[in-house]
Amino acid sequence: MSSQIPKKVVIVGGHGHVALRLARLLTPTHVVHSIHRSPEHTDEIAATRAVPYVLSLEDSPVEAFSVAFEDSDVVVFSAGAGGKGGAERTKKVDYEGALKVFEAIEGVKGKKPRLILVSAVDSRNPDIVPDHYNEEDKARSAKYRESIPAYVKWKYEADKNLVARTSFEWTILRPGGLTHEPGVGKADIGKTHITESISRDDVAATLALLVDRPDAAGLALDLVGGETPIAEALDAAIKDRVTAWIG
Ligand SMILES: NC(=O)c1ccc[n+]([C@@H]2O[C@H](COP(=O)([O-])OP(=O)(O)OC[C@H]3O[C@@H](n4cnc5c(N)ncnc54)[C@H](OP(=O)(O)O)[C@@H]3O)[C@@H](O)[C@H]2O)c1
Repeated sequence: MSSQIPKKVVIVGGHGHVALRLARLLTPTHVVHSIHRSPEHTDEIAATRAVPYVLSLEDSPVEAFSVAFEDSDVVVFSAGAGGKGGAERTKKVDYEGALKVFEAIEGVKGKKPRLILVSAVDSRNPDIVPDHYNEEDKARSAKYRESIPAYVKWKYEADKNLVARTSFEWTILRPGGLTHEPGVGKADIGKTHITESISRDDVAATLALLVDRPDAAGLALDLVGGETPIAEALDAAIKDRVTAWIG
């Protein structure tokens, strides 16, 4: 189970809805630095008790991210273009920005931090339909691929790039559709059906637990609404070495 030894955690995409929630959960027990792109958001980030740190995934060099990651134990990537700026910007932030973070971790002198990458359910080789998908999953998957093709493509390409890397430890968290509903503290985690949504509160709660779970390294975990307490569902998936990754 988790050990609550204080860690230094760097959140990339720190002004995001999930990231702000995560910072609030972590700062009572961990040192948190929150990387955000706009200086205008500094006060909002400081209000979470995280240390604001301005860098842009699109504009700042990889070396600047390596410096930001020095002495950290865990990096959480929760950034995304959020559909703003079209397919080109989705590629820039969700794919090239993620690769910049991977390269920056590799460039950290000394001990490399572990990475937790927020991806999405159904990030997979488009030619392989997971065995556990039912008809509803297949229909939802087809809908994603039709309505947000750039998002689906670049999340998958980023995940695929990460999975091939061995020089630092990583875990991929793959939430279903996100809501602003209050968290319920329960979920289905591991290799799941993909039609249930999940609240951003519950995604943040799962990320906070993953910060203290180095034994989740090498796993890609789906996270959708469900009936099992999050800590229990996460613990079972990690212990059973469940992974939803299909490369
Ligand atoms: N929406 C869904 O249903 C869904 C489902 C599954 C997974 N996800 C993933 O879950 C993650 C978190 O979601 P969320 O709702 O918290 O997203 P969000 O609120 O849109 O947060 C994303 C953050 O990324 C930041 N960002 C964008 N471009 C950047 C850049 N160049 N440099 C640095 N930061 C940059 C944004 O900064 P600004 O605040 O300055 O714009 C924003 O704060 C994302 O990776 C998303 O793809 C979403």
